[in-house]
This record gives sequence, structure tokens and C-alpha cells, in this order.
Amino acid sequence: MFLGIIGVSFAVMASSLTDYVSSYLYRQRIRQDSLAVERLSTTVAPLFQSASHDALSETLSVSGSEMGGRLLVVDGDGKVQFDSFGRLMGVRLQLPEVLSVLLEGEVSSWGIHHLDPNSPLTDSGSMVAYCASRITGTQGLLGVLLYVSPVTEMLTSLSGVQQHLFRVFAIITAVALLAALFLSRILTRPISALTRTIQKMGQGDLSIRARVSGSSEMRHLAESYNAMAQELENLDNSRNQFVSNASHELKTPMTTMKILLENVMYEPDMPLNVRQEFLQDMNHEIDRLTGIVTDLLSLTQMDSGRAEMHWENLDLQSMCMETVRLLKPKALQRLQTLRVETRSSVPFRGDRAKLEQVLYNLTDNALKYTGDGGHIRLRSGTRGDSVYLQVQDDGVGISPEDQAHIFERFYRVDKARSRETGGTGLGLSIVRQLVLLHGGTLTVESVPGSGSCFTVTLPRRGEEGKSE
Ligand SMILES: Nc1ncnc2c1ncn2[C@@H]1O[C@H](COP(=O)(O)OP(=O)(O)OP(=O)(O)O)[C@@H](O)[C@H]1O
Ligand SMILES: [Mg+2]
Repeated sequence: MFLGIIGVSFAVMASSLTDYVSSYLYRQRIRQDSLAVERLSTTVAPLFQSASHDALSETLSVSGSEMGGRLLVVDGDGKVQFDSFGRLMGVRLQLPEVLSVLLEGEVSSWGIHHLDPNSPLTDSGSMVAYCASRITGTQGLLGVLLYVSPVTEMLTSLSGVQQHLFRVFAIITAVALLAALFLSRILTRPISALTRTIQKMGQGDLSIRARVSGSSEMRHLAESYNAMAQELENLDNSRNQFVSNASHELKTPMTTMKILLENVMYEPDMPLNVRQEFLQDMNHEIDRLTGIVTDLLSLTQMDSGRAEMHWENLDLQSMCMETVRLLKPKALQRLQTLRVETRSSVPFRGDRAKLEQVLYNLTDNALKYTGDGGHIRLRSGTRGDSVYLQVQDDGVGISPEDQAHIFERFYRVDKARSRETGGTGLGLSIVRQLVLLHGGTLTVESVPGSGSCFTVTLPRRGEEGKSE
């Protein structure tokens, strides 16, 4: 394409240049010839009128050889009266240039002709220029002075120009070809490298990265590719991590159940109350297992975008009251105070079951990670175009390093303690997903030792009968 563009532009340039040069050469030649012949015709006119044949032929021969051409004098009838070559005396010449001076009244006329071999003027060469100029005497037009000159020289210089242009074109083409090859190599090298990288990635190597080099667009492409590859690798790692965590979490209750079951099976003389206790433990493990599987299922459902939303008009304040009512017995066991602080209703359009789970999980965490006699407060309210839900406790708190991870799946700050309380580390990641489904955000503020405050902010979506 590069070559094509260069070729076309060069051809256009070369043809206009040759046109320009040739028309320049022609104009130059016409001016020269016409000037010389017109001047000569004024010299010749008195000689021709006075019929001084010798002087005339002398002047014409000398001037003809000086000008490098043939000079002829044609009378008013078109007959040759003098010829510096001395061959065409008396011959009638029907040349357009002569006729245009004789019949059309032109002062001078010029033209180039390709002569056929039979032409009477062929001695001057096959390509000739005719320059005719009127000879005027005292009684008016006497005849025409015709100058016949070869134009081979001019044509040779024109073809010289053309040949030169062709040589330049050939050189430019060769240079352009090399430049095109070189440039296309440079331009396509990063693309080929990137293609190879993508192919390797397609074969499963997610750790491979593209080299950032080349033009700014290529660098941008490579950087975007690398960012995407990093994201895929992270996703792959977290999926692997998730699977291994999930297997581990499922394995623990299974192992416990197996030990309990074997005890019951192989000790037939076990006292009834011990056996009962073992069975209760097994039941507890099964509940735990069911809980984990349910959590995992709802997470994968949300991940795959299959979670359905059942939008309805809700009052967040009464939902907080309901959560408190549900968890009150649990709080009372550990002498904790659990209450809703805000009184006014907070209308919101959302999915009831999902928001109930959000409140339940957050409050359940607050109870779990707060010591006996602690205080847990729930708040709800409206803030501009959004509503918020807050669960605050004065429990163990979370260090800033852990705050960055608690929303990750299976992440628990204190593994041993969480296990004791039955935690799997899925609660907050489910909360986060549920909040995201509502287009909201989940944030935490916490000071280790003083307590934590989880805030859910949800955008309002035009609930019916807004109370504002
Ligand atoms: N209110 C809180 N105070 C202090 N730490 C908390 C609080 N809420 C959560 N955490 C910490 O964050 C971790 C993750 O919480 P998350 O709810 O995801 O898991 P979990 O409560 O351990 O288990 P699950 O909720 O799945 O039964 C918890 O293990 C705990 O260490
Ligand atoms: Mg939890």
C-alpha cells in the first residue's frame, strides 16, 4: 500500500513535470524561432520586393546555416521562390503554417510535424518545426518566410528528462520498498510477539505477560492485555483457592462425623446418655455442613448472575426490629444488649429475603465477635438519594490489615475462635454480594478492642409512596 501510494503520487508528479518541461521547451522554442524569423523577414522583405535574387539567396543561405535550419521564401500563391537548400524552387507548398499566414492573415505561425519519407522537406529530418512569418512590402503581403528546423534535439532533451525521472522513480521505489519492509517489520514485531503471548495463554499459561514496547498504541494494547491477563490469573487463583478452601471446610465436619459414627458403631456398650450426646454432635455437624453447602450454593448462584431479584416496597426500620427479635434469645444467653436505635420508618424498594439475610449475618457477626454483656446497635436511615443500614458493636474489633480481607471467601481473622463459634468465613462475602445485587456498597470501620461498625449503603430506586 505504501508503495502504491508512492507510485501513484510519483506518476502524477512525473507526468505533470514532463508536461511542464515540454510546454516550457516548446514555448521557448516558439519564441526563439518566431523572433528570429520575424526579424529576418523584415530584412528579406526589401530584397524580395526588389527581386535582388543574389542578395536574397546569399542572406538566406548565411542565416539558414547560422540558425541551423532551412529557410524558404514562398510567394503569395504558395510557390517556393527561394530555398536555402536550393532544391524546391517553384514547388507549391501546402503547409498549414504557410496557409495560415497567407490566407488567415497571421503575422507568424509555428508547428511541429512528423514528416513522411515522401515529403519534399524531409531532408531536414523526420521531426521538424515550421515557423512561418509574413513578408510585408510597400503594397502589403508579399509572401511568407518559412523556417524549417529539426526538433530532434528538443525531443531528445525531453526524453532525457523522462529517463531521468524514471531512474529517480526506480531509486525511490527501491528505497521505499526497503523502508516499507523495515517499517512493517518494526511495526508488526510487537503484534507478532503479542499474538504469540496470547496463543501461549490460550494453551493455559496464565502467568505469561506481553512485553510493553513499540508505538504508544502498541504499548497501550500490551498494557491492557497484561491487565486482563493479571485479572484472569487472579480469578483463576482465587477459584483454585476457593475450591481448596471449600473442600477443606467440608472435610472437617465429615471427619468429625465419621469419628462420632465409628464410636457409636463399634462401642455397643456405650452408655445411653453418651450415645445421645454423640448423636447430638453429629446432628450439629450435619447442620454445619448444610449451612456451608447452602452458603456455597447461594454464592455460586450470585456469581453466575442467576440470582433473581424480587423487588418490593420495604421498611428497613421494621426489618431491623425483626432481626433483633429473631436474635434476641441468642443475645440474652450472653447478656448482650441488642436494640434498634432509630425510630422513623425507612421506605426502600429491595429484595426482602436478601436484605433480611444481610441484616441477619451482620448482626450475627456482631453478637459472635462481642464479649458477654456487650452492646449491639442497629440503625437505619435516609441520606440523600440512598438509605443506610448500620450494625455497630463494642466487641473485639478488626485490625486494619484484616479489614482488607474480611469480605473474601473463607477469610477468618481468628481461625480457632471462628471455628469455635461455628463460622466458616462466608457470611460477609455473601453480604457483600447481596448488597452488590442492590447496587449498594458495604464498608467497615473498626478499632481493635473497641468494636466495629458495618455500614450498608443502598441507592433508592423510586419506591412507591416515598415518604419524603
Ligand atoms: N462484628 C465483627 N467484629 C469483629 N470481627 C468480625 C466482625 N464481623 C466479622 N468479623 C471477622 O471477619 C471474619 C469474617 O466474617 P464472616 O461473617 O465472613 O465469617 P464468619 O462469621 O467467621 O463465618 P460465617 O459468617 O460464614 O458463619 C470473621 O471470622 C471475623 O474474624
Ligand atoms: Mg459471619
